[in-house]
Amino acid sequence: MKIFLMMLIGILIVVIFVAPLSLAEEAQEISYPEIDGVFNEEDFENILFVENLDMHIAWLVKGENLLFSVKSIGKGWVAVGFNPSNMMKDANIIIGDVKGEEIIIEDHFGVSNTGHRKDEVDNILQANGSEDENFTVLEFVIPLNSGDDMDQELIPGNKYKVILAYHMSSESLKIRHSKRTSIEIEI
Ligand code: HEM
Repeated sequence: MKIFLMMLIGILIVVIFVAPLSLAEEAQEISYPEIDGVFNEEDFENILFVENLDMHIAWLVKGENLLFSVKSIGKGWVAVGFNPSNMMKDANIIIGDVKGEEIIIEDHFGVSNTGHRKDEVDNILQANGSEDENFTVLEFVIPLNSGDDMDQELIPGNKYKVILAYHMSSESLKIRHSKRTSIEIEI
C-alpha cells in the first residue's frame, strides 16, 4: 500500500510539474527573435530585392525550420509560394495581411495554375508583421519538411522556384494580385 501511494505521488509530481515544463520548452523553441514583424536585413543570412515587384525578401534556415521575411509596397495582402510545379499549382503558399495590430496569416496550397486554397493543416509555426502607409511586412516560420502533402519539402542548399505576389489595397485573400512574379532562390 505504501509503495503504491509513493508511486502515485511520483506520477502526480511528473504530471503537475515536469510535463508543463517540457511543453513550455517546446513552445519556446519556435519563438525566434528574428520574427519581430520588422524587416531587418541583419536578422537574415539571405537578402534579395525583387526589382519588378519593388519587394524585399530575406530568409534563413534555423534547425528544421525556414524563417522568412517579406516587405511589400502594398497595403493589402502579401504572399510567398514555394516550389510550384506550374504557375501557382502545387506551391506551398503562405499568405497574409496586416491591419494595425492584427495579423491574418494562412497556410495555402496552389490547387491549380491560377487558384489556391487553405490547407487542411496549418503549418505556420510563428508569424508576425507590421504596416504603415508605405509598406506591409510579413514574417513567418515554416518547417522545412512538415510531412503534409499540401506543403513542399525544402532541402537546405537546393534551389527552388518561389512565387511572390501582393495586392496594393485589398485585404481579401481571394482577390487576385496587383503584381506577381516568380524567382529562383537557394534555401
Ligand atoms: C488571391 C487569389 C489569386 C488569384 C485569383 C490569382 C489568379 C491568377 C491568374 C488568373 C493568373 C494568370 C494571369 C496572370 O498572370 O496574372 C495568375 C498568375 C500568377 N499568380 Fe496568381 N492568383 C492569386 C493568388 C496568387 C498568390 C497568393 C501568388 C503567390 C504566392 C500568386 C502568384 C502568381 C504567379 C507567380 C503567376 C504567374 C505564373 C506564371 O505565369 O508562370 N497568385 N494568378
